[in-house]
Amino acid sequence: MIQEQINQYSLEIDEFSPANAAELEEFRIRFLGTKGIIKDLFEQFKTVTPEEKRVLGKVLNEFKQQAEAKHAEFKEAFDAESQTAKTEGDLTLPGEGYSVGSRHPLSLVRNEIIDIFKRLGFVVAEGPEIEDDWHNFSALNFPEEHPARDMQDTFFIKKNTGKDDIALRTHTSSVQVRMMENGKPPFRAIMPGRVYRNEAISARAHCFFHQVEGLYIDENVSFADLKQTLYHFVQELYGEGTKVRFRPSYFPFTEPSAEMDISCTICKGAGCNMCKHTGWVEILGCGMVDPNVLENCGIDSKKFTGFAFGMGIERIANLKWVIRDLRLFSENDVRFLRQFKSEII
Ligand code: PHE
Repeated sequence: MIQEQINQYSLEIDEFSPANAAELEEFRIRFLGTKGIIKDLFEQFKTVTPEEKRVLGKVLNEFKQQAEAKHAEFKEAFDAESQTAKTEGDLTLPGEGYSVGSRHPLSLVRNEIIDIFKRLGFVVAEGPEIEDDWHNFSALNFPEEHPARDMQDTFFIKKNTGKDDIALRTHTSSVQVRMMENGKPPFRAIMPGRVYRNEAISARAHCFFHQVEGLYIDENVSFADLKQTLYHFVQELYGEGTKVRFRPSYFPFTEPSAEMDISCTICKGAGCNMCKHTGWVEILGCGMVDPNVLENCGIDSKKFTGFAFGMGIERIANLKWVIRDLRLFSENDVRFLRQFKSEII
């Protein structure tokens, strides 16, 4: 009796192919519902003899699985269909949100510096971060064993006698050497890049930082050109009316050398922690390229003169946003990075 019913229903289920979700629901109620056929068959099953039970139990369970599988198969198809119908059909639904990243503050400042110098006709030059002694030191007039080499604590990769030392570059002046060696004056270029110095990491110092250096070599380039170029740069970067002053300094590769201060961008010269209450902050080193450097790079120092300068990007960023801990620049904490939304993506 039960077996016959099962055979018949089984055929019916096999052929069943609902046209829509409503038909499928009808099927579910009829077979799998609480008052459905399967429930009824299980009730009948209770009344059969133990021998019959042994055979029928298996058959009945398989039949139930058949009904469930059929239902699951179509339910999945109808669910997926109604989902696409919903999103494709209803154009008033809100769009999917996507988030845009932000540029790193050091990239923002670097790009701004590059933009200003590009407008003055400077091109961008790059070079390797692993340098030999010649390009980082010797060509730049750092004599061997000269204390000037201690000015920049260096990470050496290979240290021998001096001449074949290999190190992480301590400044991008090395790119200036490469440029002069490989080309013919005039040169008018800036060199952005990462540099390394053997310093203990703290809020105020790091073992790497970023620079933009610049070089201008031609006939009759004078200190007045240097002053005017850097003056213009500062007006563009920090706004009209920012004051500049030059203090005599020393670099092996420039003569004369100077450090340039600007009126404090935070307190406008009134005195604050940033400028240590002097009203002035240092932003770069500069000078006239030493004739020895020109000669080392194969340039006639009787005919050509030039100026060079170099600044730390972190320092410039600091004067813009007052970032009290240098380590923030390299920790990749999105809470810090997200604050610098740029207009230019
Ligand atoms: N190379 C110097 C430094 O890293 C900066 C500098 C560049 C100074 C060019 C003068 C001229 O500190």
